[in-house]
This record gives sequence, structure tokens and C-alpha cells, in this order.
Amino acid sequence: MNTLYLRADDADTVETAARLIRDGELVAIPTETVYGLGANALDPDAVLRIFEAKGRPQDNPLILHIADPEEMTRYCCDIPETAWKLAERFWPGPLTMVLPVRRDVVPGRTTANLDTAAIRCPEVAVTREIIRRAGVPIAAPSANLSGKPSTTTARHVLHDYGLDGKIAAIVDGGPCRVGVESTIVDLHEGTPRLLRPGGVTPEQLREVLGELIVDKAVVSQIDPDEVVRAPGMKYKHYAPKGDVIILKGTAEAAAAYAHAHGGPDTAVLCYEEELSLYRDMNAVAYGRRDDLDSLAHGLFAALRDMDEAGYATIFARCPEEGGVGCAVRNRLSKAAGFHILEV
Ligand code: TXA
Ligand code: MG
Repeated sequence: MNTLYLRADDADTVETAARLIRDGELVAIPTETVYGLGANALDPDAVLRIFEAKGRPQDNPLILHIADPEEMTRYCCDIPETAWKLAERFWPGPLTMVLPVRRDVVPGRTTANLDTAAIRCPEVAVTREIIRRAGVPIAAPSANLSGKPSTTTARHVLHDYGLDGKIAAIVDGGPCRVGVESTIVDLHEGTPRLLRPGGVTPEQLREVLGELIVDKAVVSQIDPDEVVRAPGMKYKHYAPKGDVIILKGTAEAAAAYAHAHGGPDTAVLCYEEELSLYRDMNAVAYGRRDDLDSLAHGLFAALRDMDEAGYATIFARCPEEGGVGCAVRNRLSKAAGFHILEV
């Protein structure tokens, strides 16, 4: 298969991509969080292709991407007032809501036969335009092979994982603004529950919701046999081949530890402000300590680069604060298997 390369701002892109989606093909789409591997969410055969291309277990459900908040009512039912409030404040944007699904409309293959669906209205305009023109919601997981880091540029999608030649088209919308996957909040029963932190922060959610439970899968390792609210949580999340260890403490204490315990096959994933402490070691900065957005934006690409370099041990510096720091800490903790060392 020859993968069509479509630029977000070319005149034919929306029509071409929408036609391919309607025809049941796979199209990689840009979003503000990460690239998505999209297909018609209402077509079980098209959805099957997503699972096959990613090597994704079929009991891990997909997010439905919609063009306008009102479309929630087509695919979900018993929508609580809180969902409309969140949509009003954060959509289009990096927030996914879990709501009761209309099982007569959305195939079980998309939702892994759950009673709920995850739904979001992404920020990137060309993607919403494609959804609108296709006339169907787009099911899209992150456009990486299962177990690999999510992709934040078109080049990563095509070349790092060999999706080039396996999918009908990719729409290149440039690098993703946020860089980590969307925030997922479960609204289908009881108190709203944060299943995955992302670009919309817990503090922002609480401003609208009042109460918010943080699911334990966000802050700790989940036993594979445990029953979980977000099915994706039980799968091995992306982790580099080497051991990742988070060094918690001051910049100086972390640098002292890294120097004492590191060797030629060790690298440090740190902040730009700390790079000078590691002149004599392998070190990569993923963003600025004083700019949490830059850390979210740079995290996956830095981890991928370090993985390719093949380091046996990666010492990582990780922000402690809230905001989008919560999402950065969650992804890094998972990459580290929650191995955190106080130095
Ligand atoms: O930012 C994002 O959300 C990106 C872009 C492409 O939109 N998509 C993404 O999809 O990260 P994926 O499949 O990599 O992660 C979706 C997560 C999975 O952990 C899945 O288990 C969970 O959402 N999920 C999907 N439907 C669910 C449901 N009904 N209840 C609970 N969790 C659900
Ligand atoms: Mg993913």
C-alpha cells in the first residue's frame, strides 16, 4: 500500500481523508495531544484494522473523536450536566470523557463491549473538519505500535514504527501542541474519576466538578489481575528497554547520585537548567524546569531517542508539582515502573 501524505492546509486534504475514512481505511490524524490512528468508529471492520496495525489487544477500547460537542448525544446516553459543563469549558481540547454508550449505535468492537464510551472533541481544526465531512466519529488510539511511545510528529508515525505502507494516509499537522495524551475523566457513575492525567489539569477539572477522585492507576503500579476502570491501565505502558529510575531531590543531590552510580551505558534525562551538571555524562534535556508545558511537549521524543541509543540505565528528573506536571509525572513514573529514588 502506498501511504498518501496529506498536508493539513492543502485544499484537497479534508475531502481525501474523509473519503478514505468513509471507505473503511486507516488515516493517521493530527491532534493537539499526540497523533491518532483513525478509522470510522461505527464500522467494525475498519476498527479491526486499527487493532491489527497497532498490535493492540482487542479488549482495550478506543476513544471516539467528534467534531462538535452536541454529537455526544448521538453516541452516548444519560449524559450528566457535568459533562456539558466540561465540554463547554474544555472542548475542543485535550479532555476525554467516559459516558454511558448507545450500544445500538456504537459497535462493541470500538468500546471493547463496555457499557461506556470514551469520547473527545479534539482541538486541531483540520481533524474536526475531516470528522464533519466524513459524517462519522473517528476512533483513534495513539498512532504508535502497542508498547511504544505515543507519536507527536508525522515523521515518528511513518518512519519509527513502519506505519508507512500500512495505512492509507497521514495528515501532517506539524508537531502536537501538548505532547502527552488527553486527560480521561470517567463520568458514568458516582463521583467523577480521573483515569489519566493530561493537558487538562486536575485543578482545572475541580474548578468545574468540585469533587474529583484520582484513580489509583494514576499514581501507582496496577496488578495485571486487578479489575480496572480504564482497561488500558493494565497493559504494560511504554517503557524504554533500559531501566528508568526517577531521582527525587535537589538538582545537586541528583547529580551527585548519578555521577556516583552511573557508567558509560547510563544516561540522564533532565531539565535544560540542569544540563551543565552532567557535562561529563550522557544527558538529554526534555524541556525547562520552569515550564511544565515544555516538559510535556518534549517527553516522548526524548524517551524515544534515549531508547534508540540503547542505554542500560536512565536516571530521570521529574517535576513534583501539579498542573500538567501531573501528566508528565504519570508518564515518567510508568516508564520507570514507579521506581522512584529519594536522593
Ligand atoms: O490524546 C489522546 O487521547 C489520543 C489522541 C489520538 O486522541 N488517543 C489516545 O488513545 O491516547 P489510546 O487508545 O492510546 O488511549 C485511550 C485510553 C486507553 O487507556 C483506553 O483503555 C481508555 O482510553 N478507554 C477507552 N475507552 C474507555 C472506556 N469506555 N472506559 C475507560 N477507559 C477507556
Ligand atoms: Mg496509546
